[in-house]
Amino acid sequence: MTAEPVVWDDPDVDWAAYDLVVVRSTWDYSPRRDEFVRWAEAVPRLENPADVLRWNTDKGYLRSLEASGVPVIPTIWLDPSRHLSKRAVHTRMPAFGDFVVKPVVSAGAKDTGRYQPVSAQSRGLAIQHAVELLDAGRAVMIQPYVTSVDTAGETCLVFVDGRFRHAARKNALLTGPAKTAGLYAEEKMSAVEATEPQLEVATRALDVAREELGRDEPFLYARVDLVTRDDGTPMLIELELTEPSLWMQHAGEARTLDALADAIAARV
Ligand SMILES: Nc1ncnc2c1ncn2[C@@H]1O[C@H](COP(=O)(O)OP(=O)(O)O)[C@@H](O)[C@H]1O
Ligand SMILES: [Mg+2]
Repeated sequence: MTAEPVVWDDPDVDWAAYDLVVVRSTWDYSPRRDEFVRWAEAVPRLENPADVLRWNTDKGYLRSLEASGVPVIPTIWLDPSRHLSKRAVHTRMPAFGDFVVKPVVSAGAKDTGRYQPVSAQSRGLAIQHAVELLDAGRAVMIQPYVTSVDTAGETCLVFVDGRFRHAARKNALLTGPAKTAGLYAEEKMSAVEATEPQLEVATRALDVAREELGRDEPFLYARVDLVTRDDGTPMLIELELTEPSLWMQHAGEARTLDALADAIAARV
């Protein structure tokens, strides 16, 4: 069996010529998500497949996971079709505690900012950020800034073929207003052990995602990113079924790589 790297938007690739196409690092899809999903739909054999990518590239999936009992970061959702005034956007922002403004379609912490309600200047920048996204037709999420991210980071749980392989810790990424430069924010990672409650939440999130998608088989690859609530329990920040970095260099490299290769081979 041979494998070769190709670029998703290369017009010269004959996708039907491959027994299987595996999405890996398509980090530039978010500004053209529709084009990306259409591309995925046109690839005859794709993992994770197009319906999974369509569902997962809009963080609106967090709402359905929450409705099915998965703990997620409390979120206020702003839709561009409502044509909210600046004042209306302002009233949606928390009065206490730092908060985050981010687009529902994004990757690599792009267009994601952290703001302080106590500062009029920071509030102004937050409103401007949200309004700019909405004016560009992009739906917006407002969340409390989860302060444990500053001390404990995020825990990323990597699954291959439905089985947990390893966890990695991602340090905090947000210090202030959104940066728009670059493809993704630089991420500082280290190895970490997943706890039993984290494994439970991650497994539940994946089970619900499969139910939502009407899928019996496990995902070829998945990463579940968790943060810690004030009471110490885990909650979901993001479920990555599209183009997750798997952080094999930080934990269980050989094991995970073998498992991924086996899972791909079994699908060919
Ligand atoms: N509510 C939040 N509290 C703390 N940090 C957050 C919050 N939302 C986002 N972040 C930070 O921003 C980064 C990117 O946000 P995330 O929701 O993971 O989107 P994506 O990785 O798809 O860009 C996270 O890794 C985290 O560092
Ligand atoms: Mg993330």
